[in-house]
Amino acid sequence: MTILPATLDELKLRAHEAAAQAYSPYSRFPVGAAVLSDGTVHSGANVENVSYGLSICAERNAIFGAIARGAKRIDAVVLYTPTQTITTPCGACLQVIAEFGPDALIVCCSDGGEREYTLRELLPAAFNAPQLAKR
Ligand code: THU
Repeated sequence: MTILPATLDELKLRAHEAAAQAYSPYSRFPVGAAVLSDGTVHSGANVENVSYGLSICAERNAIFGAIARGAKRIDAVVLYTPTQTITTPCGACLQVIAEFGPDALIVCCSDGGEREYTLRELLPAAFNAPQLAKR
């Protein structure tokens, strides 16, 4: 699916804004994410916990929020970190993106540059429902 430059700009802006809402006192690594679903943008930020394992990444917060609001499919995920180099989604987030957007575009933005990936590049052999069906 082709995403218009204006839509990508909106996603980048929303991811940047979302990073300002991150709760990341332990890592001091704020992340913002914006996902595109059927033309609607949903954003989220990482939210940490003193019990570290309970923390959740910005991408999953944005995706779960979108799905909980009725979204069925994710077309793009944009993440932003206020760093000089880009950050790519963690493995758990990639698996969640695979669930809702196997053809999703992933755009990783930082203050020093950005890079586009497809989900298939970052997670070429995702666990999937057909594998589960082989049980
Ligand atoms: N984090 C994200 O939110 N997204 C990523 O793509 C990488 C990592 C968060 C998790 C944690 O709150 C902090 O960044 C440091 O790992």
